Amino acid sequence: MTMLTRRQSLMLAAGGLAAMAAPRGFAEDFFEGPSLHELAQEKGMRFGSAVGVGDPDSLASSFHDARYRELLIRECGVLVHENELKWYVARPDAETFDFRPADMVMDFAAENGMEMRGHTLLWHHTDWFPDWFANHDFGSRPGTEAERMLTEHVRTLVERYRGRIYSWDVVNETIDEAGRLRQTPLSQHLGEEVIDIAFHVAKEADPDAELLYNDYMSWEAGYERQQEGVLRLLERLKERGAPVDGLGVQSHIGSGNYDYSTGFDTARADGWRQFLDAVTGLDLSLSITEFDVHDKNLPADIETRDREVAELARRYLDLMFSYPQTKDILVWGMADHLSWYQGMWLREDGLPKRPTPYDEDYRPKPLRQAIADAIRAAEPRPA
Ligand code: XIL
Repeated sequence: MTMLTRRQSLMLAAGGLAAMAAPRGFAEDFFEGPSLHELAQEKGMRFGSAVGVGDPDSLASSFHDARYRELLIRECGVLVHENELKWYVARPDAETFDFRPADMVMDFAAENGMEMRGHTLLWHHTDWFPDWFANHDFGSRPGTEAERMLTEHVRTLVERYRGRIYSWDVVNETIDEAGRLRQTPLSQHLGEEVIDIAFHVAKEADPDAELLYNDYMSWEAGYERQQEGVLRLLERLKERGAPVDGLGVQSHIGSGNYDYSTGFDTARADGWRQFLDAVTGLDLSLSITEFDVHDKNLPADIETRDREVAELARRYLDLMFSYPQTKDILVWGMADHLSWYQGMWLREDGLPKRPTPYDEDYRPKPLRQAIADAIRAAEPRPA
């Protein structure tokens, strides 16, 4: 999409009402020059963000905030649902599908010329199945019932959005930090084949969509066995002929999930490269699917914190973009107050976190600059 049509669509979409609802002069708060998506497009890449609807009936939801919408329209070429396609939102019970919140994001993207990624068909992690799932009666042939449920779910979602979602996180986070397949009621009855089934059904339902395995293994200390486990899983999937196109590297990087310090030193970067070499050696693409920089353990001072976040981001993105297989970068939230990190792994000083490209007033931060610089420095992707 060109700059002109993006601006036009912005005016058409936001309309007089939304623009008038915003405080005067707010547009100057945003970046100057080309948007992140425009920069990405020049390199044959995409930039985008996760978007959450929250309570679809609440006008207080950030999703209805005119400034937030304008920011998304200006900066993003692609969106992904933060929660709306997960089983715990889209499946109120075993028989029902609820696509209302998901469709709100789909409609917003379509109205503004943005593409959509799909997250996720199977978050294969017991903590994230809906409550009803644990008590589901799998009957006398539990394997058959498990396969029926999974097939119905994957087929329904992928067929519904066929041609509108160009890339799916088919399976999310099924390898734990010890490198083992997570156990869920589905794998209990189907074993590892649960993963293959999800990929095959997705492929059948939309042969043109890109199908990713997505996980949070990272270069940081403590993830070595998870990296190994993900690699082995990808190898086995390929050997068995599962239609997996690439690895979604979530990229929740930073100093915070655990209590150890996590410098991106040369040794760690080398280890990470070996992992990415092995993944791309399987003829798989790489996508940055959930980028943010956790500042849990960084100093309170905002200038220092923002600088360190941006520096780490730049080094990480330079490495990721050195792989021509990396075409998409999606952040997990565009503005700090909307980040999932605000509610988890709190800072000891209790201060709000600053993990995203824009602050709570939608002012661009050094992280936005770091992303722009890394994209500018990237080689154009092969067509
Ligand atoms: C998170 C959302 O951001 C939260 O709102 C929700 O409560 C839990 O899930 N890895 C993933 C994402 O694959 O789906 C997670 O999203 C963040 C970690």
